[in-house]
Amino acid sequence: MANRRPLLAGNWKMHKTIQEARDFAVGFQEKVQDVTDLDMVICAPFTALSVLKEELEESIIHIGAQNMYYQPKGAFTGEISPLMLLDLACTYVIIGHSERREYFKEDDELIARKVKAALDMSLTPILCVGENLALREGGKALGFVRGQVEKDLMELTPSELQKVVIAYEPIWAIGTGKTASARDAQEMCSAIRSTLAGIAGSVAQEIRILYGGSVKSGNIAELMVQPDIDGALVGGASLEVEEFAQLIQNAR
Ligand code: PGA
Repeated sequence: MANRRPLLAGNWKMHKTIQEARDFAVGFQEKVQDVTDLDMVICAPFTALSVLKEELEESIIHIGAQNMYYQPKGAFTGEISPLMLLDLACTYVIIGHSERREYFKEDDELIARKVKAALDMSLTPILCVGENLALREGGKALGFVRGQVEKDLMELTPSELQKVVIAYEPIWAIGTGKTASARDAQEMCSAIRSTLAGIAGSVAQEIRILYGGSVKSGNIAELMVQPDIDGALVGGASLEVEEFAQLIQNAR
């Protein structure tokens, strides 16, 4: 059994002003300074990354973005490049979140390029996959998610794949208060790992797979004990210092 280091990632989405981000960083840092047995990352809006760099660059808390474009620079109005994220001390970047797929029409081809571009710049991509309610109810969730994993990662070498983090986030569980049962989440994460094994062989045992969708301090423990769940991508519950710090403690 591989020794995968747990990862707890906060996804602030479109929340927090610069001042709010600073206040969070200061307060959170104080509460989790003894946490050395897992990795923590805060994925903030672009506008808050600079202040997180100031407050967290020297800390054990990693900084992440929620999206990026795959080109290093150029005429791409409104986009942010991997180089710019490095400049802001980011080490992680969320790629292909379901909100980007749905509202901003990102497809698997674009997402695959972004994953590759992140790796080329030594950023750790957190690739999000997950089915909607209709697919789940139609019994098609497993096949759909396996397809996403294959399409988004197919071009990578095993040593690149090893550095990817995958977040399984069923769309019907995001922000709804409805978590997948720990059993369903484990079933899907295990299916994802076997899909990865098909692409990269034994390296699949070293790839971290997170669960996301209404994760809170109250349900993190039952998710963390599942054999194929290596952590969580947390939206709403990562916005308050007390709650996110408690979630981290309960995950240990
Ligand atoms: P949630 O969001 O924890 O608020 O459900 C998770 C996510 O979308 O990453």
